[in-house]
Amino acid sequence: MTKLKFFHRSRAPFGLLVPIFARHRLRLLFGLVALLGVDFLQLLIPMLLKSGIDGLSRKTANETSLLNLALLILLIAVTVAVLRFIWRTLIIGFSRLLEQTLRDRIFSHLLRMDRQFYGRWSTGGLMAHAGNDLSAIQMACGMGMVAAVDALVMSTAAICFMLAIDVKLTLIALLPMPLLAICTKILAGRMHNRFNLVQEQFGLMTEFVRNALVSIRLLKVYSLESQQGEEFARLGTQYVHSNLKVAVIQGLLHPLATLTGNAGMLLILYFGGLLVIEGKITLGSFVAFVTYLAMLVWPMMAIGWVANLVQRGLTSLRRVAALLEEQSTIRGGKGLLSQAEAIPAICCRNLNFTYPDMKNPALERINLDLTQGIYGITGRTGSGKSTLCRLAARLYPVEDGMLFIGGRDVNTVSVPSVREQIGYVGQQVFLFSETIFNNICFGRPDADRDQVEAVARAASIHNDIVGFADGYATLVGERGVRLSGGQKQRIALARALLCDRPILIIDDGLSALDVETEQEVFANICRQYKGRLVLLVSHRVNLLRKTDRIFLIDHGKILASGNHEQMRMASSLYTIMTDKQQDNA
Ligand SMILES: Nc1ncnc2c1ncn2[C@@H]1O[C@H](COP(=O)(O)OP(=O)(O)OP(=O)(O)O)[C@@H](O)[C@H]1O
Ligand SMILES: [Mg+2]
Repeated sequence: MTKLKFFHRSRAPFGLLVPIFARHRLRLLFGLVALLGVDFLQLLIPMLLKSGIDGLSRKTANETSLLNLALLILLIAVTVAVLRFIWRTLIIGFSRLLEQTLRDRIFSHLLRMDRQFYGRWSTGGLMAHAGNDLSAIQMACGMGMVAAVDALVMSTAAICFMLAIDVKLTLIALLPMPLLAICTKILAGRMHNRFNLVQEQFGLMTEFVRNALVSIRLLKVYSLESQQGEEFARLGTQYVHSNLKVAVIQGLLHPLATLTGNAGMLLILYFGGLLVIEGKITLGSFVAFVTYLAMLVWPMMAIGWVANLVQRGLTSLRRVAALLEEQSTIRGGKGLLSQAEAIPAICCRNLNFTYPDMKNPALERINLDLTQGIYGITGRTGSGKSTLCRLAARLYPVEDGMLFIGGRDVNTVSVPSVREQIGYVGQQVFLFSETIFNNICFGRPDADRDQVEAVARAASIHNDIVGFADGYATLVGERGVRLSGGQKQRIALARALLCDRPILIIDDGLSALDVETEQEVFANICRQYKGRLVLLVSHRVNLLRKTDRIFLIDHGKILASGNHEQMRMASSLYTIMTDKQQDNA
C-alpha cells in the first residue's frame, strides 16, 4: 500500500480565507456585535448582585428595589438568550458558508488536474481533504473564532472589573494563570504533530476501503475477505491509537484549566475573606469578585480548546491551500484551435516522452505525419501505443515543437480547444452508473434519441441494447456490472462517434469483439470518418491490413511503417506477429 504524501507547506494559507471573510463581512459584523452584547450583559450581572447584597448588608434595600433588581436580571437573561441565538445563527452560519465555498473550490480544482496529479494522489487522501480538513477549518472559523473573541473580551473585562474592586486581590487570584498558559502552549505544539498523523491515517483507511469495494469481485474470487478484514482492523487500530494520543493531550488540557481556576478560588476565599472581615471591601464586592473569577474559568478553559481548534484548523488550511496551489502540468497557450480552421492532422517531430518518476522514456524520437486516412498502430505489449494516444489526446504534457494537432503546436493553443478536435476511446472503458442513453450522450448531452440510436447502430450495439428489458434506459451498474467487455467497448465507441470530431483515436477499443462484429464496426467507422483522421491501435491483422498505413512501435520507437504488404516485407517482427495470428485462425 502506498503511503499518502502530504503536500509541501503552503506559503499563503490565509489568502484563501480573506476574500470569503470580506464577502460575508456584514454577517460577521452583526454576529460579533451580538456576541459582544452577550459578553457585556453577562458582565453586568455581578455588578447588579453587588448592589443588591450591599443594599441588604447596609439594610437600605426594600421589597421594591429587590424586585426591580430581579426583573432587571431576568430582562438581561432574556436579551442574552436572543443575542446568543443571533450570533450563533450568523457566525456558525458563516462557517458553514465558508466550508461550502472551499469545498466547491477544491472540487473544481480536482476536475482541472491532470493524470500526473492523480498518479501522486490517492483517492482516499483527497477524500480526507474534503471531509476532515474542511470540517476542521469550519470549526476553527466558527466556534473557534467565537470562543477566541469571547474568551478575550470576557477575561479582559472580568480582570478590569476585578482590578477596580481590589488590585492586590486580583493579582493573587491570577497567580496560577501563567502556569496554565505555558502548559497550553507546550501541549498545543504536541497536538499539532499528532493531529497530522491522525489525518494521514484517516486517508489511508479511506483509500483502503475504496480499493476493497472497487475490487470486491476480485477479493471474493481469491477468497481474500478475511485477510482484507484483518488488514482493515490493523489500520483501524493504528487510527484509534493516534486519536488516543490526541485525546491524552486534550484530556490534560481541561482538568488543568479547571484546577487552575479552583486554585485561584481557594486563594480568594482566604485572602478576600480576610479583606471583608477587616472591612476593606464590602460583602457585595466580595461576591462580585468571586463571580468574576468564576467567569474567568471558562475563558481559561477556552484557551486550551481554542488552541486545539486553531491548531487543527491551521494544519488543515495549510494542506487545503497547498492542494489548491498545485498546478496542472498540462498548460496550453491562449490560442484557440477553431473547428472551422481545423484540419484533421497529427504531426510528431522527434517526440520524446518519459512518465514522471520513470527512468526510461516511454516514447523516443517519434516522427509522424498523419492527415486524412485510417492509420493502424501496432506493437508488442508495453511498447508505447497507449502513451502515444494519450499524448495526442492531451492527457500528458509535451515539450514545445514536438506535437502538432490540426497544424498548430499543441502548447500554443488552449487544452480544451485541442481536446474538442478529438474523439478518444481509451483502452480501459469507463462507464458511469447511469443509463446507457446518458452514457452514450455524455460528450453531447443535447443529442436526441435518433442521433444516439444512429451511433449505437454504427457501433453495432443497438441490437444488444434493445434486447435489455429497459432498452436505452437500462442502468449500468457501478463500472458496468451488467455488461460484457465487448458491450462496454461498443458503448464507449458509440459515445466517441456521437461527438463526431475531426480526429478519432481508438486505443485497442475493438479488442473484445468477435471477428464479424469487429469488421462491421470497422466498416461503419471508415464510412463515417471518410476524409477525416482515425488512429486505431490494434493487434488484429484483419483490421490492420485494411488501414491506409501501419506503424509498428517497439520499445517506444517506430520500427517500421507502410501498408500491410510493405510491412511484411520490411519487418520481421511484424511478420512474426501476423503469422502467429494466421496460424491461430
Ligand atoms: N502512468 C504511467 N506511469 C509510468 N509508466 C507508465 C504509465 N503508463 C505506461 N507506462 C509505461 O510506459 C510504457 C508504455 O506503456 P503503454 O501503455 O503505452 O504500452 P502499450 O503499447 O499501450 O501496451 P499494451 O499493448 O499492453 O496496451 C510501458 O513500459 C509502461 O510500463
Ligand atoms: Mg495500451
